Amino acid sequence: MKAVLRAFQHYTTRLWRRGSPSSPPRHPPVGLVRFGSLRRLQPIGRIFGSEWGQCIDRYYIESFLARHAADIHGHVLEVADNTYTRQFGGTRVQQSDVLHVSPQHPGATITADLTCADHLQSETFDCVIFTQTLQFIYDVRAALRTLYRILKPGGVLLATGNGISQIARWDMDHWGEYWRFTSLSAHKLFTEVFPVSHVAVQAHGNVLAAMAFLHGLVSEELRQEELDYFDPDYEVTGASRPGLSLNQRVPQAFALLLTEANALHIRDNAAVACIEILQRCVHELRRADDLVLKPFPGDIVVRRTLTRLLQIGTDQVLRAESVVCNDSSRWHAHQAEQQGDD
Ligand SMILES: C[S@@+](CC[C@H](N)C(=O)[O-])C[C@H]1O[C@@H](n2cnc3c(N)ncnc32)[C@H](O)[C@@H]1O
Repeated sequence: MKAVLRAFQHYTTRLWRRGSPSSPPRHPPVGLVRFGSLRRLQPIGRIFGSEWGQCIDRYYIESFLARHAADIHGHVLEVADNTYTRQFGGTRVQQSDVLHVSPQHPGATITADLTCADHLQSETFDCVIFTQTLQFIYDVRAALRTLYRILKPGGVLLATGNGISQIARWDMDHWGEYWRFTSLSAHKLFTEVFPVSHVAVQAHGNVLAAMAFLHGLVSEELRQEELDYFDPDYEVTGASRPGLSLNQRVPQAFALLLTEANALHIRDNAAVACIEILQRCVHELRRADDLVLKPFPGDIVVRRTLTRLLQIGTDQVLRAESVVCNDSSRWHAHQAEQQGDD
């Protein structure tokens, strides 16, 4: 009986070994996998391998920034230090700023919590390098709205975030580590704030890269083809701790205004008129804050449509105060007021 079992195991082992990346994976017979150095309860390294070489996530992050180096120019903002601004922006950078949440941080030129940063001037930066920060911010939507607001028209946000990863203990203890992202959640979050056609999300990683990353092994220990192979079920970074790369391109600013005075003209057909105008203008809208909506506060059809068209949160539509439009283009408030006086 034992001999039969051994023969069966031998046969299934051969079948398993014959498996190639193109054929469906076979599960190995129990006991066949050799764990070797990986049969351990403590990771090989706890701080992402930074003391031995290039962290696995940094391989993806730096490849991502190298591919988008041309976007790093003019006035550039980076979080915590300006290493990547200098490394990838070079002489294209005219002004470099460093943002940190703590006023004591050496080298920071701007102190801000991005979730409540009204003191930061709008339309200031040509590029924001926002690597490995989103997972440390609980209210990611508020932070993304700030990033959108402080970018100049045509500016670019280069952001990365974690997929499969250990906790970054130091950051966890200082400001908290809240999130892991998939390419899907990242895309959804970014397109709630940025125009959908301007958002590109790429994920990176595979089971080997994920496992190496979790153990704090470094990119030098893997072959390039092993790092570059992408398995969509193992997103390590979006060009980040192996994970998510987000490249946002922002269109020209445009404000669509509708005043209450003007609303009188289109009240009967309010929803239709509003939606038609928005459909024509929506690609020009720079940000939700430019849209102010009051005339039909109770109209949930309009509100729902605006939310969908603008890819923003319902709360932003509800915050809106007044919108000006006429049947062909935008009106300004004073024109609408005159019209209302007539
Ligand atoms: C691991 S560092 C990332 C920056 C670094 N350049 C990099 O590539 O790894 C995490 C950063 O998140 C920032 N951070 C945490 N909460 C924040 C918040 N609410 N607003 C702005 N920055 C925040 C901290 O200042 C910290 O420097």
